[in-house]
Amino acid sequence: MRINELVRLGTEQLRGVTEIPQKEAMILLGEVLGKEMSWIMGHGEDESGEDARFMERLNRRAHHEPLEYIVGRASFYGRVFDVDSRVLIPRPETELLVDKAVELAKTLPENAHIVEIGCGSGIVSIMLSLLLPKAHITAVDISPDALHVSSHNAKKQGVSERITFVEGSYMDGVTEKIDMIVSNPPYIANNEPLGIGLSFEPSLALYGGNRGDEMLCHIIDLFVQREAKALVCEMGYDQREPIALHVKEKGLNVAFYTDLAGLDRGFWIKE
Ligand SMILES: C[S@@+](CC[C@H](N)C(=O)[O-])C[C@H]1O[C@@H](n2cnc3c(N)ncnc32)[C@H](O)[C@@H]1O
Repeated sequence: MRINELVRLGTEQLRGVTEIPQKEAMILLGEVLGKEMSWIMGHGEDESGEDARFMERLNRRAHHEPLEYIVGRASFYGRVFDVDSRVLIPRPETELLVDKAVELAKTLPENAHIVEIGCGSGIVSIMLSLLLPKAHITAVDISPDALHVSSHNAKKQGVSERITFVEGSYMDGVTEKIDMIVSNPPYIANNEPLGIGLSFEPSLALYGGNRGDEMLCHIIDLFVQREAKALVCEMGYDQREPIALHVKEKGLNVAFYTDLAGLDRGFWIKE
């Protein structure tokens, strides 16, 4: 079929799946043809020669599989990272976690030891190692699959020498002194129904316990036990109250940050 026919067909099939059906149809076709969207727009009358491969991807997207998993990449902090269904898709609000971590790191020695709990695709640790070139970063994940993806991304971004990847729960296996802990842990309650898009993502990356905030509370406990100097975490928009209470019980002060929609999205503690 001709390129403009495929784009039209794709647009029709993706209506109701996404708010930008034509753009996504062009991205899928561009991925199959190895071309940019601007090329697709200028070659509408050409035969695609790749109808079957386009249809396979279109069908997946029509069944709500996230676009990022189908094309195998996602943008974060102005860079492109490889992703697949073994890891959470980077969210734009997690850029705020990186910004807050960089801000806090500026109050610590340049060669601070920063530990990320639950590195997933590696986006946070990789950005921290790029933005804080003297820091020593340890990235932990309980999932060996996620660690494959994060170490691959670190290699692609040229920082694999500067991040130590550790397979373990929380900070098990991290014996060195820790200056700062950073985390975007799973924080959805176990019984919360997921939207259709989220159902494609690993449950290990989403569910944080019966209430949802259990991992966040445990990370706060570890921050105290390990005598780190700073902690910054992403959290759910409705978790401010339980987090504030848990931090108060530890005799600490906490500050919260909001996302671009004005919703509570994270907190930090500085000793
Ligand atoms: C919400 S994802 C965050 C991934 C990535 N940091 C990001 O911001 O996109 C949470 C990650 O925590 C990992 N995880 C879950 N339980 C863990 C545990 N007990 N210890 C370490 N990592 C854990 C999951 O495998 C997943 O990769």
